[in-house]
Amino acid sequence: MAIKNLNDKIVVVTGAASGIGRATALAFAREGARIVAADLDGDALAAVCQEIEALGASCLTYAVNVADEAAVRTFAEQVGARWGAPHVLINNAGIGYLGLFLQSDLAHWRRILDVNVMGVVHGCYFFLPMMMAEGGPRHVLNVSSSAGNFPSPSMGAYAASKGAVSIWTEGLKMELADSNITVTTVCPGVINTAIVRNWAGVAPSVSDETLAKLRAYYESEGCPPDVVARAMVRAVRRDGDIVLSGPKVALAYHVRRISVKLIRAIMINFSRRSGYL
Ligand SMILES: NC(=O)c1ccc[n+]([C@@H]2O[C@H](COP(=O)([O-])OP(=O)(O)OC[C@H]3O[C@@H](n4cnc5c(N)ncnc54)[C@H](O)[C@@H]3O)[C@@H](O)[C@H]2O)c1
Repeated sequence: MAIKNLNDKIVVVTGAASGIGRATALAFAREGARIVAADLDGDALAAVCQEIEALGASCLTYAVNVADEAAVRTFAEQVGARWGAPHVLINNAGIGYLGLFLQSDLAHWRRILDVNVMGVVHGCYFFLPMMMAEGGPRHVLNVSSSAGNFPSPSMGAYAASKGAVSIWTEGLKMELADSNITVTTVCPGVINTAIVRNWAGVAPSVSDETLAKLRAYYESEGCPPDVVARAMVRAVRRDGDIVLSGPKVALAYHVRRISVKLIRAIMINFSRRSGYL
């Protein structure tokens, strides 16, 4: 069920202190929604809250680590007690990683899976019951990545985490098909955010020159996070199933359905030119 009018609706956004999450919180605030903004970074969150309030919207902030089960449980309970069940839940918080498989340690795998997969699982697990019990149209958007549809070399753990989010979200759509909840998979491509400036992890084998090149690529070719944010607002208004945002993301998504070999060749070529393969 689409939520056509977002005025006064409660929208929870994780990872709201930066990039896509920040832009999304602001985009829903512009529609008159009340925003619950969560992030690890409490200081940056306070600044985003000021921006939201400057738009005339209400905002609650929570410093939460989405990888921490107990913290997300408490977060959901507190939101429920203060404002009630959210109408829209956006599980966006996530971290990147760059490095060839055998040149990386295993600790980064655990960290990426904890944040990118379990963070989304925790959000759904603790908010969905109250969203279902409250009734009326409600919407969950799980932020995956185009890397979850067609991985590139050197992003193994990241792609695995996003592939897990995408495929699990697909199953969740089936489980909730007869409920009041719409579920959308969000697959951004190259979006110019801090994710390439503050890599959560980079293998020692990745040179500074490669990182600088990649950063420059995101800055020149990446699209602004607001493009993804506005696509999420549209998905809630129109009951969207999948959001494909960013340069050539929709094209690559459909090419992959026709030829896995072709998309693999394209990704290998791109990675060699970028210097991380
Ligand atoms: N930027 C891109 O090109 C791109 C492409 C595809 C998918 N994505 C996905 O979009 C989402 C947002 O990324 P972004 O590009 O805006 O990055 P970003 O680094 O600008 O923002 C991510 C935010 O998440 C927060 N965060 C990180 N770990 C957290 C945790 N454990 N608990 C709570 N908050 C946490 C960070 O503090 C930060 O504010 C991520 O899931 C990312 O994987 C980004």
